[in-house]
Amino acid sequence: MSARGQDGSSATEAVIKRWDGLRIVGRRDFPGIAQSAGAARRWVLEVLDGHATAETLETLELLVSEVVTNAVLHSDSARPGGLVTVRVGLGGGLIHVEVIDGGSATSVPAIRTTDDDSLSGRGLSWVDRLARAWGADHDDEVGGAVWFQLAIGQPSGRDPLSSP
Ligand SMILES: Nc1ncnc2c1ncn2[C@@H]1O[C@H](COP(=O)(O)OP(=O)(O)O)[C@@H](O)[C@H]1O
Ligand SMILES: [Mg+2]
Repeated sequence: MSARGQDGSSATEAVIKRWDGLRIVGRRDFPGIAQSAGAARRWVLEVLDGHATAETLETLELLVSEVVTNAVLHSDSARPGGLVTVRVGLGGGLIHVEVIDGGSATSVPAIRTTDDDSLSGRGLSWVDRLARAWGADHDDEVGGAVWFQLAIGQPSGRDPLSSP
């Protein structure tokens, strides 16, 4: 297959699959620290300014914050020198955001069940409810990738996409 990466690794294949039909519009590395959630949120809004409805951008802010916070809290990105990489893509009426972290030997991204009084454990539930699609890939060399997609022009996560 011509699109296969030079090393042919499963991580490369996963990336190719995620990016099928999308064009990259921004990529940036952030240090693995708590403040990067806000920095990434602001940067993604800058990159997508004028490309989506205000409601979609609001949802985007929330989900970027949650996923980058998770990378810092739950992966090796928080180790000295650790990074969180955010990539933003557009295509087929969708915004695609993916957050690459340093990986974790002890934890995988998974929706937690919470009760009303829980102080934490809602981030991925929000992603699941508000995003059109989302997923998590893991590779020992690359680390973890959590990605999600929102529809550009409509209230996110509700109506079916009308056209590409
Ligand atoms: N990037 C990640 N790497 C490893 N584990 C993760 C990552 N993101 C989330 N998780 C796991 O998924 C769980 C659910 O995440 P979330 O719903 O955001 O809740 P919270 O971060 O408050 O625990 C986390 O508690 C953690 O165990
Ligand atoms: Mg969280």
